[in-house]
Amino acid sequence: MNSHAIEVTGLSKRFGEVEAVRAASFRAEPGRVTGFLGPNGAGKSTTLAMVLGLSRPDAGTARIGGAAYRDLDDPTGTVGAVLDSTGAHPSMTGRGHLRAYAELGGHARRRVDDVALTTGITEYLDRRIRGYSTGMRRRLALATALLGEPSVLVLDEPSNGLDPAGIVWLREFLRAFAGRGGTVLLSSHVLTELQHSIDDLVLIDRGRVAWSGPLDEFTGAASSLESAFLAHTMEVHP
Ligand SMILES: Nc1ncnc2c1ncn2[C@@H]1O[C@H](COP(=O)(O)OP(=O)(O)OP(=O)(O)O)[C@@H](O)[C@H]1O
Ligand SMILES: [Mg+2]
Repeated sequence: MNSHAIEVTGLSKRFGEVEAVRAASFRAEPGRVTGFLGPNGAGKSTTLAMVLGLSRPDAGTARIGGAAYRDLDDPTGTVGAVLDSTGAHPSMTGRGHLRAYAELGGHARRRVDDVALTTGITEYLDRRIRGYSTGMRRRLALATALLGEPSVLVLDEPSNGLDPAGIVWLREFLRAFAGRGGTVLLSSHVLTELQHSIDDLVLIDRGRVAWSGPLDEFTGAASSLESAFLAHTMEVHP
């Protein structure tokens, strides 16, 4: 697997009066799962949209393997993305959806069956997406992201809508992906959900990166991840 780090430097974005992201800098490394943690409205989705070239920063840069997303030679073969807004047309079948995206990305049609198997949606492939449950839609979005065999995954709240078995499956999947040298950046607003899933943590609060580094260093002297989290967020809101 190619290795590509994600490198965010001084990224900023304002919506009118709201400074959604304020000079955010952090890295997500190959071979590691990086959790992007912050409360609702902290700026996670805005940051990930800029990393994926879907939103233009007011300042700063986001690079994947040294290049901006829009400059990648093979974007869907490099980065797989699942955003909150990832939509699929309800009247299509899962198979139709995946075939269309395989075609768009220039990926072999056999990948459709491969990614369906990987994400556990094989038996739903020929049903219309309007009949999919929330969890099945999340799996379909992940399957779509995997079509190009990317070495980088950018996932916005990927556990939303997954049942406990789905959450465990996703955790194991991402661990194995990083184990093969892949780079994973995933956001969450739930601390306990990330606890057993990530190697590195980037904590964002009101648009600012409040802390980043290996998860074990974050817990550090604190008795638990929760108390470390409270200590760090109190630094931000004295
Ligand atoms: N298109 C937009 N127009 C105006 N304000 C926006 C827009 N997108 C985001 N914001 C604002 O920017 C801030 C950051 O939002 P963002 O969606 O990035 O947060 P988040 O960390 O992803 O939150 P959540 O956990 O709820 O998904 C919020 O104050 C939000 O209201
Ligand atoms: Mg969000």
